[in-house]
Amino acid sequence: MQEKTLCRVCGGLVREFVDFGRQPMADAFVEPGQLADDFVYRLAVGVCAVCSMAQLIEEVPNELMFHEEYPYRSSGSAVMRAHFAQIARQFMDRELRGPDPLIVEIGSNDGIMLNTIASAGLRHVGVEPCDNLARLAERNGLSVVNRYFGQETAERIAAEHGSADVIFSANTFSHISDVDGVMRGIDALLSKTGVFVFEDPYLLDIVDQTSFDQIYDEHVYFFAAKSISALAARYGFELVDAERLAVHGGEVRYSIARAGVRPPTPSVQALIAMEDLRGLTDEATLRRFAVNTARRRDELVDVLHGLKARGKTIVGYGATAKSATVLNYCGIGPGLLDFICDSTPAKQGRYTPGSHIPVRAPEHFVEARPDYALMLAWNHASEIMEKESWFTEGGGRWIRYVPEVSLI
Ligand code: TMP
Ligand code: ZN
Repeated sequence: MQEKTLCRVCGGLVREFVDFGRQPMADAFVEPGQLADDFVYRLAVGVCAVCSMAQLIEEVPNELMFHEEYPYRSSGSAVMRAHFAQIARQFMDRELRGPDPLIVEIGSNDGIMLNTIASAGLRHVGVEPCDNLARLAERNGLSVVNRYFGQETAERIAAEHGSADVIFSANTFSHISDVDGVMRGIDALLSKTGVFVFEDPYLLDIVDQTSFDQIYDEHVYFFAAKSISALAARYGFELVDAERLAVHGGEVRYSIARAGVRPPTPSVQALIAMEDLRGLTDEATLRRFAVNTARRRDELVDVLHGLKARGKTIVGYGATAKSATVLNYCGIGPGLLDFICDSTPAKQGRYTPGSHIPVRAPEHFVEARPDYALMLAWNHASEIMEKESWFTEGGGRWIRYVPEVSLI
């Protein structure tokens, strides 16, 4: 019997709908010689019967995930660099027009968004708990606080710099279990008319594409307009805009402001109505997603074993955090994938968590000329397939598993 799980947002009852079993931490790439030490927890997701927030059942302590060896660099993708330059310019055009405005970013990583702000000479503060990333961004001339974001950090920033016109966060809010701390921090730091803008994977895209690999330890929550609207209301805020984004496999950019300060755009009600129509956060819908997930796993495993049986060579492309779930849940190890190539220096020379597949620089992909490549960084597929166009031109084929298992 599972213990009762209570919602981290509202205290309501969380009903579990999918279970991936014991999993390692997704970004804990293993050094050679340490292959036995993967930390494991039970990766399972449920949905709150009261506020509709989908969330992990068990969580991994922050300190084990976000530290000076955290390997992810936001700037590894040209598409993402353009994406964040665009939102930075949008903030400058629309929000940061008063005298000496201030923007704060929660989870500023390597400075992919704040670079544009800093180049324009505007006041900014990045908040980044990973020491390595905070130092890297500082070396690039950004102003960064090397801390977790919460009420205390927010109060410190407000005391030193005054209130923020914009607080931004990309692929970070959904990583923070302590939403109460974040929202108290937003309340302490955001100006009366300011806006908190965040973008994170969208539950509807996950369900529609069966992109079950969006589920891993760092993704504590799977947001929808409905659950974010309820969350905002608990803290005297209001969801005032919700824009669907194509990046990272489908996200929503949510804007929340103090209640009554900004009229909500029609997209807010439209998105919530669509979610209701689809029964997105109904237990039955999410249980169907779990069934589709198991089917997707079986299809992918069949394809890989079939190719291997015919003597084909297969490698993986992109040692993403997401791939930890795919590889471990599907039982894909070094017997199926010779190696995974990835452009991130901090991942190269290490082994994937749990599945223990070697990670190599992309040059090895060119050298190895495999017959097939499993597109693990499927959210960057267009960029990668363009960059590696020689691969299919020379007869190689990509294996996709999102939005379906297919060979390209
Ligand atoms: P992400 O899906 O969490 O952004 O991770 C993408 C991973 O894929 C990251 O480890 C970097 C890697 N990558 C490449 O190796 N080559 C590329 O061209 C891109 C865009 C990403
Ligand atoms: Zn709840």
